[in-house]
Order: sequence, then C-alpha cells, then structure tokens
Amino acid sequence: METIYFDHAATTPLHPEVINKMTDVMKQNYGNPSSIHQYGRHARKVVDEARRVIAQSIKADERDIIFTSGGTEADNLAVVGTALKYRDKGKHIITTNIEHHAVLDSCHYLETIGFDVTYLPVNTKGVVELDDVKQALRDDTILVSIMMVNNEVGSIQPIEDIGALIKDHQAYFHTDAVQAYGIMPMDVNKLGVDLLTLTAHKINGPKGIGALYKKHDVKLQARHFGGEQERKRRPGTENIVGIVGFKSAVELIHGTELHRNAHYQRIKKLFFNELNTLSNVCVNSELDETSPLILNVSFLGTHIEQVLMNLDLEGILVSSGSACTAGAMESSHVLTAIYGEQSERTKSAIRFSFGINHSDENIKEAARRVKQVIERLRKLNN
Ligand SMILES: Cc1ncc(COP(=O)(O)O)c(C=O)c1O
Repeated sequence: METIYFDHAATTPLHPEVINKMTDVMKQNYGNPSSIHQYGRHARKVVDEARRVIAQSIKADERDIIFTSGGTEADNLAVVGTALKYRDKGKHIITTNIEHHAVLDSCHYLETIGFDVTYLPVNTKGVVELDDVKQALRDDTILVSIMMVNNEVGSIQPIEDIGALIKDHQAYFHTDAVQAYGIMPMDVNKLGVDLLTLTAHKINGPKGIGALYKKHDVKLQARHFGGEQERKRRPGTENIVGIVGFKSAVELIHGTELHRNAHYQRIKKLFFNELNTLSNVCVNSELDETSPLILNVSFLGTHIEQVLMNLDLEGILVSSGSACTAGAMESSHVLTAIYGEQSERTKSAIRFSFGINHSDENIKEAARRVKQVIERLRKLNN
C-alpha cells in the first residue's frame, strides 16, 4: 500500500536537487565564512550568494536578510527584538489570536515583562478585519505582527491593506510569511512590511534554516550574543549546508509561484470534490479564498484522534491543529478562535496539505481511503 503524505504544511520532503547541492557543499566546502584564508573566503561567497538569491525572491536588499535557525527564531527575533529595541516609544503590540505559537508565545513573554498585547479576533473565514486593526492602533503601539497565511486553515490575511493602513504610524509591521512563500509572488515594498519571516523546510528545503527580512531602518535587539555574524543581529557560525539548501529550494520555486498556485488549487479541488460525496463534511475557513496547499475539513460525527490514527493505519498521513499534551488532546487555538472550543467542527477538524508528490491518481486513491475510514468510524460511533 502506497503511503500518501498530506502534511506538507508541517514540513516537506527535500527536493532531490536541493539534496545534490547540499551534498556538494558538504563535500567541498567546510570553511568557516569568518576565516580569512581561501576556504573561509569560499564559504563567505557561498553565504553571500544565497543571501542575494533569497533577498531577490522577496524584492529585498540583501543586506536586510538575517539567516536564522528557522521560522520560530525569525518570529522570536522580529517580535521580541523589535519590542525590546523600541520600548521607549511605547509598550503596545497588536497581533491576532490565530498566529503561530512562535509569535503568540513571544507576545506572552513580552506581557510578563510589562508589554500590553492586543490579540485581534478573526471572522468566520479566519481573516482579521482591517477595521479591527485600525481600532486597535494606539499612539503607543510599536509593533503589529500578523501572519500572511494561516498554517492550520490556510486563510490569507490582507497584508498589503494593513501595510497601507499603518504606513504613517510609528508601529513597525511584521508578517510571518512561512506558509505563503512559494505560492504567492512576494514584494516586501508592495506589501508595506518592515519585517518578514521565512523558513526553508516548507518549500522542499532543509529544516533548521530560515531568514528574517528586516527593512534597513528597523533596529533589533539581538537575542543571541557572541560574534559579528549577521551584522551582530544573529551571531554564531553560519549553517552553510542549510543556507545552500535554502538557496537551492528558493531557486526552484522563484518565478513559478503563480503556476504552483494554480496547480495546487486544482489538486485541492479535485481532492475536495472526491471527499464531498460524503455527508457532513465542512470546509473550515473557505475553499477558494485560502492557500491552495491547505484544506482543513471537519468530518462531523468523528473525533480527531480517532481519525488521525485510523488514517495513519491506512497510509494517509495528516495533521490537525490540536496538540497532544499529557495524553489529552488540546483544541486548536485557530479553530477555537473561529468556531469556539466546543464546536463540533473544532473537535473533528483534519488538515490535509498538498505538495510535490501528489498526482491526480494518488489524490483520488487517498480520497477513497479517507471516505472508507470516515464511514467506518461514523458507524462505530453511532
Ligand atoms: C506559520 C508558521 N510560522 C512559523 C513556523 C515555524 O517555523 P520553523 O519550523 O522553521 O521554526 C511554522 C512551522 O510550522 C509555521 O507554519
């Protein structure tokens, strides 16, 4: 039985080309970019080239890219680093209650040291209302952090509109673009963002490498200490193998975003149409206006753990936004924000996320197995 992986929003397989590039650099280049000799200079060149490619992919200046260990660290640095640097200008931060925990937990930390955070709600499509952002802005707001695409339901936030709204306000604007990168052409200037988070492992690159774009005039308080790397904003010897893998993954997708978007939109619809012959299937958030890589559906009359386990046995690998803590399932904070914790939708939601190994054939086969499992479980539960 073929195992079909539907968890690309969690992480993606490495592209073979990325593996080749990473293997080459592992074999040929072990120099430290800070060393002055030829091995060091070669390593520095590799890092600089990658920085240029990644910067170009979001229309940024390469001096404004900071390599990090991934999206979590980039989010932490953006939120905490900006807040600490600008605390004299105000202590108010705006975010939403559907952000990734890398942002939410950074905000929770800031609250413990005297910052005031507004967590905006979202509407039934999982989208923040522009008017709510406007109402929440205060004279002492120093940072607005709103994600571009939500990782659980795929809802797309109006980043460009928010950028325009706060353009003349003192607050800096950060967006976590981890789930948007690769399916939307990105231009940091057009978006009006000051800080933007990326990670490589959602685009068939390696885990453990990401980047924070930081507009040149934004200052950050570093979260790490000890070296001159990344202009002191993120010291530590550069992860060259990861950086090369990141660059290679970016080269493979850059310029193909719209094509990929249309391709996955078709795959997603095909899959949903197959599933939709079941009764009581609800799409969480929306089918058409969300990321083409994410389909979050509730199979009413089932329970998340039960579905996850049974699909796994059938070779269908999926996720839910719920976390398993001490043996108990904790509801997804995103679905709770949209539908409420006690909603049947929240309790039966499963996320399917699409990627490079999907074809019309295996999508149809997967839908067939999913339907079988759901029908069986519903009978059992009745
Ligand atoms: C929206 C979002 N932000 C941040 C992260 C964290 O990225 P990383 O796994 O590279 O730390 C993820 C990963 O799941 C994500 O989906």
